[in-house]
Amino acid sequence: MTVRGRFITVEGGEGAGKSSNLAFIQSLLEAAGKQVLFTREPGGTPLGEAIRELLLGHKHTGMADDTELLLMFAARAEHLQQKILPALEQGVWVLCDRFTDASFAYQGSGRGLSLEKITKLQQFVQGSLRPDLTLLLDLPVETGLQRAGNRSEPDRFEREAEDFFERVRNGYLQIAREEPERVRVIDASPALPQVQEQISATIHHYLESLDE
Ligand code: TMP
Repeated sequence: MTVRGRFITVEGGEGAGKSSNLAFIQSLLEAAGKQVLFTREPGGTPLGEAIRELLLGHKHTGMADDTELLLMFAARAEHLQQKILPALEQGVWVLCDRFTDASFAYQGSGRGLSLEKITKLQQFVQGSLRPDLTLLLDLPVETGLQRAGNRSEPDRFEREAEDFFERVRNGYLQIAREEPERVRVIDASPALPQVQEQISATIHHYLESLDE
């Protein structure tokens, strides 16, 4: 299988401004002439969205951590087979709101599941496929929770305590330290225009690196 499109993911904690920034990234890529498929995890397919409801809803509050991890990867397997890989093969760029880094940060660092377990699932479900570029929208947990606090009814993750989100943030930053080429950290604490300046520079730098 030849993958011709590029796979870009966006990660971040609660209240990091993913939604508005994802739309901005899509517009930058389209302005550069790329055909972009925007999608999200968990979700992205009818089955994936049904799994998302199980994961984020409050029907199964006592869900075991392993079950949570396996459901994330079940949704991901479906997403890859049905949507992401076919798009990439056709030369479409895929922009995804969260991907496997979220499993390492939330289920690994947040819940305390072993990284070895997650790495095995990553290999099983994705083979060698990894995002080409990941933007990590980073900001202090307290600021993020304050921003997210104004929104509607919290989902099953949003109900976690602050120390959970501290571990998630540290987990993400650890991945960024280990893979600085792929994972670019964006400081999401200033006002939106300053955040978008950083995003724009990162995307343009990436696009230029492909022309070299
Ligand atoms: P969001 O897309 O609105 O941020 O909600 C998705 C939630 O799911 C978010 O709290 C992070 C969580 N999540 C995981 O815990 N593991 C994963 O692998 C993914 C993709 C998301």
